[in-house]
Amino acid sequence: MTRPLVIAIDGPAGSGKSTVAQKLAERLGLTYVDSGATYRAAALKALESGIRSDDEKSVIEVIASADIQFSTDGSRARVLLDGRDVSRQIRTPEVTFAAAKVSRLPEVREKLIALQRSFARGRGVVMEGRDIGTVVFPDSPLKIFLRADPEERARRRLNQEKQEGREATLEQTAYEIGRRDQLDAERKISPLTPAPDACTIDSSRLTADQVVERILEIAGERKLLSAGN
Ligand code: DC
Repeated sequence: MTRPLVIAIDGPAGSGKSTVAQKLAERLGLTYVDSGATYRAAALKALESGIRSDDEKSVIEVIASADIQFSTDGSRARVLLDGRDVSRQIRTPEVTFAAAKVSRLPEVREKLIALQRSFARGRGVVMEGRDIGTVVFPDSPLKIFLRADPEERARRRLNQEKQEGREATLEQTAYEIGRRDQLDAERKISPLTPAPDACTIDSSRLTADQVVERILEIAGERKLLSAGN
C-alpha cells in the first residue's frame, strides 16, 4: 500500500503559510494541520498554570500533561486543550510570545513532534510550521518553503490581527514579527531553515491562489497526485 501523502509547508510568520496550506488541503481533500497551534496550546497551558516562564522544569512538566487535539467545526479547524476549545485564546500576543519561548525547550518539542506525526497516521495531510520538512516529516515528497518580504509579511499579519478584532499598528506588527523571526532563527534546535530538498517560493507578489497553483504544478510534475490524493 502506498503511504498517504504528506505535504510540508514551512516559513516565517506572515509568509502566507496558513492560507496556502488550508487552500491546498481543501483542493486535494487532505487534512490541514497547523503545527504552530500545538506550540500555542502548550504555551497557553503553561500560562494558565501560573508558573513563571523561567521555571523551565515546571513548564516542561505541566506541558507534558497537556492533552492537545484538533477537531473540525464545519470547515473551521478548532484547537482543543484538555477538551476545551481554545482556538481564540491561543491567538493573543501573550500566547504568541509564550509559544516562541516554550518552542525552544527540547522536551516540549519532542512531545509536540510526536503529536504532530500522530495526526498524519493513516491519512494524507498538509502540515504547516517551521520544521515540518526538516524534522517532523523529513521523508515528505513535497516540501515547500514560503518566504516573503518583511514589509509584506507585516502588512498581512496586521490585516489578520484586524480581522480577529485586535488593535495594532504596522510599526508594532513589524517589530513583533522581527522579534519572533529572531527567536525562531536563533533557536538551537530546529531553527527555521529550508530543508535541502525544499522548493522555495517567494509569495511577496503572489496571491495565495497563485502559490497554491504553483505547488499543484510541482506536485503534478512529481506525479504525486495520482488516485487517492
Ligand atoms: O506559526 P505560529 O506563529 O502559530 O507558531 C507559534 C510558535 O511556535 C512560533 O514561535 C514558532 C513555533 N513553532 C515551531 O517552533 N515549530 C513549528 N513547527 C511551528 C511553530
